[in-house]
Amino acid sequence: MAKMRVHELAAELGVDAKAVLVRLRELGEFVKSPSSSIEAPVARKVRASFGARPPRPGSPRPSPMRREHVDPHVDRPGFDPTAPSTRQFGWRSGAVAAPQHPDLLANVERVRYKYPVLRDHIDALRSLGSQVVYAGFCRQDGFRDCAIVHVRFSGAIEAGFGFTREVMIFYSPHEDLQGRTFQAAARELGGADRSITPDIFFMWSPDRRLQIKLNDWSRPAKLAIPLLIDDEDELSLITLLRDYIYARDLFYMTTPVYGASFFGRRTLLQSMRDDVFNQRVTGVFGLRKSGKTSILMQLKEELQEDKVVTVLMDLEAFPSPPEDPTDDIVSDLRRRLIAELKAHKLRTQELSQLQERPSILDLKNALQAILKHLHKDGHRILLLLDEIEYLTPADRIDIAEGDMPRIAQLLSALRSIVQESENFTFVLSGLTSAIVEGGRLYGRPNPLFSWAKAVYVKPLEREEADDLASTVGGKMGIQIEPGALEALHEASGGHAYLYRNLSSAVVQHLPTDVFQRTMTRASVLTELDDWKSRVQGNIEEMVQHVKRYYANEAVMLDVLMDSAADFKELASSEHVAVRRLKDLGLIHEQDGEFEVSVILELV
Ligand SMILES: Nc1ncnc2c1ncn2[C@@H]1O[C@H](COP(=O)(O)OP(=O)(O)O)[C@@H](O)[C@H]1O
Ligand SMILES: [Mg+2]
Repeated sequence: MAKMRVHELAAELGVDAKAVLVRLRELGEFVKSPSSSIEAPVARKVRASFGARPPRPGSPRPSPMRREHVDPHVDRPGFDPTAPSTRQFGWRSGAVAAPQHPDLLANVERVRYKYPVLRDHIDALRSLGSQVVYAGFCRQDGFRDCAIVHVRFSGAIEAGFGFTREVMIFYSPHEDLQGRTFQAAARELGGADRSITPDIFFMWSPDRRLQIKLNDWSRPAKLAIPLLIDDEDELSLITLLRDYIYARDLFYMTTPVYGASFFGRRTLLQSMRDDVFNQRVTGVFGLRKSGKTSILMQLKEELQEDKVVTVLMDLEAFPSPPEDPTDDIVSDLRRRLIAELKAHKLRTQELSQLQERPSILDLKNALQAILKHLHKDGHRILLLLDEIEYLTPADRIDIAEGDMPRIAQLLSALRSIVQESENFTFVLSGLTSAIVEGGRLYGRPNPLFSWAKAVYVKPLEREEADDLASTVGGKMGIQIEPGALEALHEASGGHAYLYRNLSSAVVQHLPTDVFQRTMTRASVLTELDDWKSRVQGNIEEMVQHVKRYYANEAVMLDVLMDSAADFKELASSEHVAVRRLKDLGLIHEQDGEFEVSVILELV
C-alpha cells in the first residue's frame, strides 16, 4: 500500500488530525504536520490503536464515504469500557470517513444555515466516529422548511445499538411542534430508500416540550428520539441512545404480528399461498397464542402484491350459538368486501346494490357476479375466518346434532362459490378442527367434511426461534449467546407467545450501563422460576382449551403424564389423537418414545 498523509488517515478514522499526530508520538513515530506522509505499516499501527481495520480496496459502498466494518469485540488489548476516554475511543472504532463530496458539503451548509444546531450535532457525531452522509430539505408540501439529515454511525455504535443502516434526523423549525410534523417525518422514513433504519429516527425542533411530545407520539414501529445533547459531555449522544434503545422491549407483543415482527413459518405460508391459487380450502388450527392470527395477517400482507383482495374476519365479534350469528356475519362480510374492493379500486356494484342485511343467497349471487368481473384481470378474493370456535359449541356431539342449520348453510354457500368460480377461496382458523372433521354439522351433512384441508400451527423450530431472538434482540443492541438461544427454546418449547414472553422477561433484567449488552445462558436460567410462575395461568388456559375441543387427546395426554409405557401401548390404536397431539406441539416422539412438551410440565 502506498504512503498516505496524516490528515487523510484522520479523515478515514473520523478523528482530528491532531489526535493522529499525538497518537503517532505515543507510538514512537515522530511526524511533523497533518500533511506529512506516513508509511503503510505505520498507518496500520495507528488504525489498530484506534480499533479500526484497514480499508478494503474497492469497497462496494457507492456513497462518497468510505467506511470500515469493524467488530468491536476484537483487537483492542486492554480495552476498558468504563474509563471515559477509552470509552469514547471505543465508540469511535469502525469510524466513518469525513464527508468530502462537494455536493454533500454544500447541502450540509444549506441546512446548517437554517438550523445552526446542526453544527453541534455534527461535532458530537464526529467525536464518536460518526458522520452526516446526506442533508437536504423536506419535499413534502407544507413541510419544505423541515430538513432531513442521514447519519452513518461508527461500527462500534452500530454493533452496540443494533443499527445496520443509516439513521434519519428530522429538523423542524416549530416552537410548538405538531403531530402532523411528526407524521411527515414518519412518512419521510417510510418513503426513504432501504438504506435508512425504518423504525427509529431522531427529531429536533426548538420546542421545549420536544421530549414529552415525541414520547407521546412514538410507537414501537416508529421510535422518535429527541436529539437533545449536551455539548459539554462527549458521551451525551451515547447516553441518549442508551436511554431510548435499551429501554425498548420489542419482544413483548400480545397482538398478532406480521411484517418485520413475523418470523418463520415459511413452509406453511408457501403451502397456504398455493392453496389460494389452487382454490383449496384450508383450516389452520393450533393452541391459543400459537400464532394463528399472525399467520393469517402475514398471508394477507404477502398476497397483496399478487392481486389478491383479502378480507379477514374475526368471528369472536359476533353472537355465538345458541344465538344465530349468520345474518350479522353475512351483513358484515358484505360491508368488508365493499371496503376492501374499494381500497383496491375494484368493482363493488353488485354488492353495493344489495340491502344492508342480505340473505345468504343474495350475497352469494352478488359475490359471484363480482368475481366474474375480477377474473378478467386476474384478481382473486380470499376470505379468512378467524376464531372459528365461536361458530361451534363446546363439543362435537353438539355440532352434529345442534340446531343451527344456517351456519351449515353459510359454509355450504361459501363452498359452492369456491367450486363455481375460478378466483375465490377461504381459510378457517381457530382452536378446534372439529368444524372440518365432523361428518355432520348442526344436523346437516358437514359441507367441509373431508373437503377442507387441516394444517396445524406448530411451535417455532429452533432455527426460526433463533432468528426471531437474534433479529429482535439486535434491534435493542442485544447479542444473544448460543447457550441463551438454546435455553430460550428449551424452556418455552418454541411456543410463539411464550418464547417472546420469556425473552422479554430476560431483557428486562439485562444491565443497561454496559458497552454492549449480551444475553447469556445464565441470564435466561436466572429468570426461569419467576417466569414460570407468571405464565402458569396462560398454560392452564391452553390445557383447558385442549380438554374442551380435543377430549380424546386430553385423555391421552393424561395417560402420558402418568405412564409413558401405557401411552405407548395405546398409541398404536389411537393414531389420530397421537398425530394431533404432535401437531399441536404437546407431545414429542423420539425413537418410538413419547414425552410431553416442556410447557406442560409447568402445570
Ligand atoms: N410468526 C411469529 N413470529 C414472531 N412472533 C409471533 C409469531 N406468531 C406469533 N407470535 C407471537 O405470539 C403472539 C400470539 O400470536 P397470535 O397470532 O395472536 O396467536 P393466536 O392467533 O394463535 O392466538 C403474538 O402476539 C406474538 O407475540
Ligand atoms: Mg388469534
